[in-house]
Amino acid sequence: MSVYLDHAATSHPKPEAVLDAVRAALTEYNANPGRAGHPRALRAGREILEARAALAALMGAKDAMSVVFAFNCTDALNLAVKGALRVGDHVVATQLEHNSVLRPLCGLAARGRITLTLVKPRPDGFVDPDDVEHALTGRTALIACTHASNVTGAIQPVAAIGQVARRRGIRYLIDGAQALGGMPVDVEALGCDLYAFPGHKSLLGPQGTGGLYVRPGVTLFPQREGGTGSASDSMLQPAELPERYEAGTLNLPGIAGLGAGVKHVAPRLSQIMSRERELTGALMEGLADVDGVTLYSPREEAARAGIVAFNVGDLPSAQAADALARRGFDVRGGLHCAPGAHRFLGTLERGAVRASVGHETTFEEVEGFVEAVREMGRE
Ligand code: ALA
Repeated sequence: MSVYLDHAATSHPKPEAVLDAVRAALTEYNANPGRAGHPRALRAGREILEARAALAALMGAKDAMSVVFAFNCTDALNLAVKGALRVGDHVVATQLEHNSVLRPLCGLAARGRITLTLVKPRPDGFVDPDDVEHALTGRTALIACTHASNVTGAIQPVAAIGQVARRRGIRYLIDGAQALGGMPVDVEALGCDLYAFPGHKSLLGPQGTGGLYVRPGVTLFPQREGGTGSASDSMLQPAELPERYEAGTLNLPGIAGLGAGVKHVAPRLSQIMSRERELTGALMEGLADVDGVTLYSPREEAARAGIVAFNVGDLPSAQAADALARRGFDVRGGLHCAPGAHRFLGTLERGAVRASVGHETTFEEVEGFVEAVREMGRE
């Protein structure tokens, strides 16, 4: 079997508890939560609530109802962006954002509904909170920032940007796609109003899951309306959370699996984080020693998620990723859906190879990978 180093795209393998939880949802209590009073439906509702509560606890959210389930992180980001903005608003985001933030924002800007400023990172790959503050105008209604770049792994100063947002009274959205489950997240300490996350990356849940933390008191326009099982006499979407943003049948097996993933990660978070830091440290060190390798991730361990981006000589990154796959290592090459980040790195043409570690990656696998890159560079 190949060595999986593509955890930033989705984590693998999933813990046994996640597989068991998905199976139990599909077999023991496969019913529609909140839509009936029979025992299966009640159990389904309890499992959803437990997963919500586990996520809220992991994020430092006081109220479980402020965690809204979505189909994935992109879906959550679409709700956050489109639900927060009105015609004429100005938004400040960063050049490092993933397309899941850039495309909703640029789409609104292209249709003339909002104006947008993308703040460039400093040469070291981190956004300067002062630059965010200088980009604000009297019409700025939203600041959006990635917690950690999905290309380089660089952890952004999201708490300091949160202070700017609080001081200036502007809503603040963090894209936690590469962060939640891999490092501590406290929505209070970060000062954010909205925090979007996928379920299938560091939280170890199944694909098709994710969500949005919505600070109590923050109201968004729902992006989907429909059945909730509550206030069924009304033809309007209920105002209460989470139903306001959760129309239609939820992904019960996915959310049950996600809940099990969160319960697996939460008690081990600091171990997972230190191990992933050490693994990426070993990757950075090993690759730095290989002739012709250009590294794009931050040198300092504490400043990056479990991601190392690099290129070898002038080999196109997709070709390098294919060559590494033939040697038994699964990594991502090409562009990583973050064109601004590639523009910043000067890799818009050739992309970058991205190796990303996970909870079960070993030091032997990292050593083997470095050796494979060395051999590939020699060819
Ligand atoms: N957003 C995911 C990645 O960075 C899929 O690979």
